[in-house]
Amino acid sequence: MAVPRNVQPLFMVSRNVIAGAALLLLGVASCSEPAHSPGIESVSYTEDQLATMYTTMCAICHGADGKLGNAGATDLASSTLDLQARIAVITYGKGQMTPFNGRLTEQEIAALAQYIESFRE
Ligand code: HEC
Repeated sequence: MAVPRNVQPLFMVSRNVIAGAALLLLGVASCSEPAHSPGIESVSYTEDQLATMYTTMCAICHGADGKLGNAGATDLASSTLDLQARIAVITYGKGQMTPFNGRLTEQEIAALAQYIESFRE
């Protein structure tokens, strides 16, 4: 008896499903925190990644150079807050500034808090 013709198409469908599941897993893995929850120091970002993060999340109020002052935003170039205090403001928000916990990971917030020090003169 011959092998039914529909074996091959069925196999291809299931391969596509597996490929789809793999893609989904990749997507989930790339936007959630790593399972082993590394300390803040063990995650690093390139200058480019931080610049992009700052531009998309912060520049609308603080401006490309930290000095814009939109919505009453503090001039980051003359800010004197220490790292912990900056992390707190970014995490929990302050006044007109929206909180970023939930939108950025702890590691991203810490890295940005460090990054904006480069605006200081
Ligand atoms: C919706 C506008 C807005 C956005 C977006 C925003 N901020 Fe702010 N930010 C503010 C305002 C307003 C303040 C002043 C809050 C106050 O003191 O009442 C502020 C204050 C701060 C401070 C405290 C500075 C100081 O010396 O007191 C830091 C640090 C800061 N923002 C960093 C960031 C970073 C990093 C981002 C992006 C992740 C960001 N902000 C996004 C509006 C914004």
